[in-house]
Amino acid sequence: MPAYIAICIGGLATFAASLLQREFSSDDLQVLRVFDEVNDQTQGHAGCGKIEVSTTVDPATLWLKSRFIMNWLVKLTIIDSLSSVSDFHSALTSLGSSSISSAVTVLRLHASTSWPEPIRPMVTSSHQSPSSGPTLYRASCVRSGTSHPFTSLDVSRTLGSTLGEIFPEWKASMKEYEIRVIAYVLNSSAWIGMSLNNRDYQRNKGNLDSEFRYPHGINVKTETTSKIGLRPSTCALLIELADLKSGEIVCDPTSGMGSICIEGRYKFGDEVAFLGGDIDKEINELRMVAAVECGLTLWDCTRLPLRDGLIDVWICDPPFGVHCGKTKDAITLLKHLLRECRRCSAEGGRMIMLIAHRIKELRRLTFPNEHVHAVRWRIVKERKINLGGMLAYIVEMAAV
Ligand SMILES: C[S@@+](CC[C@H](N)C(=O)[O-])C[C@H]1O[C@@H](n2cnc3c(N)ncnc32)[C@H](O)[C@@H]1O
Repeated sequence: MPAYIAICIGGLATFAASLLQREFSSDDLQVLRVFDEVNDQTQGHAGCGKIEVSTTVDPATLWLKSRFIMNWLVKLTIIDSLSSVSDFHSALTSLGSSSISSAVTVLRLHASTSWPEPIRPMVTSSHQSPSSGPTLYRASCVRSGTSHPFTSLDVSRTLGSTLGEIFPEWKASMKEYEIRVIAYVLNSSAWIGMSLNNRDYQRNKGNLDSEFRYPHGINVKTETTSKIGLRPSTCALLIELADLKSGEIVCDPTSGMGSICIEGRYKFGDEVAFLGGDIDKEINELRMVAAVECGLTLWDCTRLPLRDGLIDVWICDPPFGVHCGKTKDAITLLKHLLRECRRCSAEGGRMIMLIAHRIKELRRLTFPNEHVHAVRWRIVKERKINLGGMLAYIVEMAAV
């Protein structure tokens, strides 16, 4: 069975692995190992959750049924005890040309797989076997951790030159390439594979591939404005954590570009109702299409135009990052948001909140803290995660 490496948010890799095991039978997919470290050293390390699987599932099905995965790589090798940059050379050399060629075959199979619409147009334009000329490749490194005696550039160069030694007929190219080899290095381990993500959807400047999903978000970046929503895979994980049931009403009170609602609608269709809103007028103009499909509107989450007890589940990504003004204002907003959501919450209502900088305030404001002004939400579970290199929390709450 071909082996793959799945990349996801750090802190949720074990959960994502369990979702893969739920989605595919053990005859078709086996989880071989999970790396899920989140600590101060993973700060800055995007995508530090890694899952090694072996599977016979075709890549199109794999992608479609694992929207919570940021990227799939065809596995080349995993180094467990890195000591110097020459370990990358040794690892690829001992892997040998036939194993690397097999991985390339899987990659090309990926391109020729019959992809369902509407994803197909997005994936066919790269990973094509070149009709003529050399195979073009690029090597990159996503590195985190302290005291490495090498830089990311050293790793990329070593990987690139080793591939050039093994395949003298290949040609390195930073812009036009069919094959992208990525090494995810964290402390003394390195996970190395060939990215299955489509080149057109890779951010050439960044090391982490962006996602090609459909709907792949409605990010808007112009000279005058930048509205970037959560990654679809992050939204998919939040939705999985919410464990939604048919007929439930779900609300994102600070929906931004509406990514959570869009992802939810994609997964559940008419089975679950999603609605959301944002106070930003510009956002409400930019997201017209999604707004119509997903019931997104202009509102202030501290005064929701919803009746008491309407919402079963809240999935919430509030504005408590570094860019949201004074701490006092942010805490006030958090308190009013929680109160208002509680008012509109059905009996047994629950909330999944993604929160970065205000976790202490959230604990102080909610049960089990006996604070006299605590809002009527109880923290059921906290998960520490690495969100694009930033340490954050996903907090599960229940209405009390
Ligand atoms: C972290 S962003 C949400 C991003 C969103 N999850 C996405 O993927 O696009 C937080 C959002 O809260 C909105 N917001 C801030 N104060 C608000 C309020 N009082 N009512 C509703 N939305 C508010 C901001 O405009 C911002 O779009």
